Amino acid sequence: MLMNRLCRFTAGLVLTLVSVTVSAQYLQTTMTATESPGSDADTLVVLVPSGSTQLALPGWSQATIDQVNRALAARDFDGSARQQVEILAPAGLSADRLIAVGVGAPDELTRHVAEEIGAALSVHINGSKAAVIEADTRLITDPARNTSIATAVAHGIELRNYRFDRLKSNPDARPSQSYRWVVISQTAAEQQYAMLSAVAQGVFTARELTNLPGGSGHPAAFAEYARDQLTPLGVEVTILGPEQVEAAGMGSLLGVSKGSQHKAHLLVAQWRGSNEPPIALVGKGNTFDTGGYDLKTGASILQMQGDKAGGAAVVGAIKALAAQQVQINVIAVVPLSQNSISGEAMLPGDVLTAGDGTTIEVTSTDAEGRLILADGIWYTRDRFQPRVIVDIATLTGAKTTALGSELSAVFSEHADLVATMRQAGELTNELVWQLPLGPYPGIIDSRIADIKNTGSPGAQAGAIFLQHFAGDTPWLHIDMASQALASSARGIHPEGGTGHGVRLLTEWVKIYAAQ
Ligand code: BES
Ligand code: MN
Ligand code: ZN
Repeated sequence: MLMNRLCRFTAGLVLTLVSVTVSAQYLQTTMTATESPGSDADTLVVLVPSGSTQLALPGWSQATIDQVNRALAARDFDGSARQQVEILAPAGLSADRLIAVGVGAPDELTRHVAEEIGAALSVHINGSKAAVIEADTRLITDPARNTSIATAVAHGIELRNYRFDRLKSNPDARPSQSYRWVVISQTAAEQQYAMLSAVAQGVFTARELTNLPGGSGHPAAFAEYARDQLTPLGVEVTILGPEQVEAAGMGSLLGVSKGSQHKAHLLVAQWRGSNEPPIALVGKGNTFDTGGYDLKTGASILQMQGDKAGGAAVVGAIKALAAQQVQINVIAVVPLSQNSISGEAMLPGDVLTAGDGTTIEVTSTDAEGRLILADGIWYTRDRFQPRVIVDIATLTGAKTTALGSELSAVFSEHADLVATMRQAGELTNELVWQLPLGPYPGIIDSRIADIKNTGSPGAQAGAIFLQHFAGDTPWLHIDMASQALASSARGIHPEGGTGHGVRLLTEWVKIYAAQ
């Protein structure tokens, strides 16, 4: 059946540091939709709206109804969103377990709460022996709400079921599970789920790229993995190697990678869903951030394989948009570097010349993200004349100090960009909060060059530096520092790479293109 989407990955990457045979058995979650229940499920899930007096499905005997409702009452179950009660060996049913899942008032349930309900359900189910799961949604009687809630819950299950365990010799077993969704309209559910599953595939690609260790996930490996993921979907991918980056004059991007044997690359991916000028997404792809000679000395260095998460997000977003076959012209550009030290590395105080000719005094080698994005943004503008540029980056610790890891900072002088990004943030629960681009007179003025790469306040200085390279193209910057990696599993995210930004950007591109 047609909602078939496997929650699984093919590892397309050549690992250079570890030589393991990748034989991990990935969790396979098959989702199907039907309008009529079956009889072979070992687990019956019922989505229950609040306010129902007693739980009953067509075909249940009085004995079943009595036992189930007695058990639910004993746990004060009333269908509020996020409630979950399991009843083992329900009387008169062939399933071994029945799980009642509260969804609250269907009109009020947001997509992200529905996804989190799915994630929590999945954690519970993964801890049981459930293999054939029938999820009955017919108590949500409004046809549109039935479709949106059933598919959002399924999407939450899918998102939570990702694992990065292919570097483990003996990963935990990943049994196959099939979910059969009993819905009001099979066709509507299949269509809606296919769209969400495309998003999930984009999120998984971004998580995979984010999770790659620094040593094996270097610029060339990132670019090749992205190409392998994108080209089968009809996305045109071009990879500029170090010589081409140099020939194009991108001395700022080149400078960051000089200290590493893994030199700079630039990934360009285009989905030509229309002939209009493209919407451009530019992501920071610093595959590891040692800080350079301004070396990171604290524990944070252990998180710095996550410094490519902005780049991962734009790759994931264009993958999702291509899989959804949107009729929008989109480009994703990722400047790729590894910020390391060696005798060849850039030195504090060096002056780099960016692609647009701007000279940059490197007042901190650890402010490398803006250096690579400067050339990424300039190249995008110069070669593609996009109608808008959004960049996304794990850019500053100052952003985390200001907003924590629940919100990204956004910067733009274009109110429509901020408004549409906020809308996309609320829809996906990848929330954004605007910070100002001024007034900060002289914030990045340099004594010896055109500009310098640090200033105070820190998150704003980063944004104002990038603004210089966006020129007069409408532009918005997203600082997603500290949102790349989850230290423990939570909600729709397993531990590790979150894929943050994929859902936000996928929705934003569609909202922006439609306005
Ligand atoms: N990649 C870091 C920002 C970062 C820090 C992301 C912690 C996630 C967690 C960035 O390259 C960086 O080092 N920024 C410096 C800039 C400073 C030197 C101007 C920072 O914020 O400390
Ligand atoms: Mn840095
Ligand atoms: Zn960085």
